[in-house]
This record gives sequence, C-alpha cells and structure tokens, in this order.
Amino acid sequence: MTGVSAAVTLHGVTKAFPLGNGRTLEALNVQRWAVPAGRCTVLTGPSGSGKTTLLNLIAGVSLPTAGTVAVHDTEISALPEPQRDRFRAKHIGYVFQTFNLLSAFTALENVMLSMMFAGAIPNEQRRRAGEILARLGLGARLAHKPHQLSRGEQQRVAIARALANHPPLILADEPCASLDASTAREVLDELLSVCREAGTTLLVVSHESSVLAAGDQVVDITAINRAKHRVSVAERV
Ligand SMILES: Nc1ncnc2c1ncn2[C@@H]1O[C@H](COP(=O)(O)OP(=O)(O)OP(=O)(O)O)[C@@H](O)[C@H]1O
Ligand SMILES: [Mg+2]
Repeated sequence: MTGVSAAVTLHGVTKAFPLGNGRTLEALNVQRWAVPAGRCTVLTGPSGSGKTTLLNLIAGVSLPTAGTVAVHDTEISALPEPQRDRFRAKHIGYVFQTFNLLSAFTALENVMLSMMFAGAIPNEQRRRAGEILARLGLGARLAHKPHQLSRGEQQRVAIARALANHPPLILADEPCASLDASTAREVLDELLSVCREAGTTLLVVSHESSVLAAGDQVVDITAINRAKHRVSVAERV
C-alpha cells in the first residue's frame, strides 16, 4: 500500500520460548513487516502459527528474542517494563484471545480501569464506559462481574475496554470467536465503524469469512513467519 504510513513495523524479529533443559521453541521469525496506519488488517493462519505471539510482541506484553518492534515512532521493544505498560495503556487497545478481564471488578469497572490507567477523569470514565458497553449490547450488564457473564458477553466487555480510550492502534485476537453469527456481525460493524470514524489502525486475528471480507487487507501469517517451530537445544560449553 504505497502512500500509507506504517502504524507498526517489525525488523528482524524472532521469538523463542524456553522449554527447560536448555531447549527452546522458535515460534516467530519475521524479517520485515509493516501494518498500514488507519486501515483494517486481518491476520489469519493455522492454530499454533504464531498469531498471538506476534500480537503480544506488538503490544509489548512480551519482548522479542531478537529484533525491533515499533508502534508509530516508538520502539516499544526497547522500553523498560513500566514505560511499556504506560505506552500500551495510552496508545494500544488489546482484545486478548483469553479476554483477561479482572475477576473482582464489574463490566463497567473493567472498562473504567483501562481509562484510569490512561489518565481520564472519573466522571468521564463512567460516562464513556457505560456508553461503549451499551453500544455493544451490554447496557443491562454493567454491574455484572466476569463470572456472571457468558463468554460472548465477556468478549464484548474486552472489546469495550480496548475501544474506551480511543487508542490509535487496536489489536484484537479472534474478537468474534465466542459470538453467534448475528452478534459477531453487530460487534464487528461496531468495531469497524468506531475505528473508521477515528482513523484507528485495526489488526484483527480471525478465520471468519465475515471478518476477512471486512478487512482492507488479509495477511496469512505463514507468508511472513519463517519460523519452523523447531525445538533446539542450546550448546553447553
Ligand atoms: N509461553 C510459551 N511457552 C512455550 N511455547 C509457547 C508459548 N506461547 C506460545 N508457544 C508456542 O508458540 C507457537 C505459537 O503460539 P501462538 O499462541 O502464537 O499461536 P496462534 O497462531 O495464536 O494459535 P491459535 O490460533 O491456536 O490461537 C505454538 O507452537 C505454541 O505452542
Ligand atoms: Mg492465538
């Protein structure tokens, strides 16, 4: 996509997970990749191909074994943990594959907390959190804790939390996986319309045809990830 700046750039990125006894598993090896700003990119690929690993690196939830990850002009992979956490709170909305809602807090509080970390004032947090939850069909579920919500409702709270701060970048890991087709369509339309209104960059992991069709581009991770999921043993000297 010529003429479009990059919201995310990866250079020489590898991620290897230690497996114990000096063994590691190479999950990711992406030499160069850029996510165009202000567009919806859908990332697809088989289970275990590194999609979540890639999103975690972009969000700064984990660090690459080698290489650099930049979000706009900030090399997030070079920031110490407290700065990475602050940067993510302000600039990135992340819908985790596992939702990661805080179990002791209500739906409304889960969304408000993400705004608090980004510095919004309390009345504004409450108003915006209530509004976005209502837009996602959860207006009657504000006071429910995660265990009182269905998986699909929890997923929508996670989406509301990612949207609440109007971050310039949203990462969404299979955001419609727990939703029926009609709710998935509504939630996807909401996500896309909020992002298109604000010029947000959206990077969505999905296999669903409706999501693939809605993207400005679809990227199969197997086309950019050269890792062979090899387990290697470190040489002992
Ligand atoms: N913490 C970890 N320790 C060891 N191996 C890991 C760890 N996290 C991921 N892996 C391995 O890395 C590879 C990529 O995992 P990842 O979760 O990124 O895949 P995915 O494409 O998101 O799969 P799915 O579609 O099932 O969600 C897998 O082989 C997985 O077993
Ligand atoms: Mg995954």
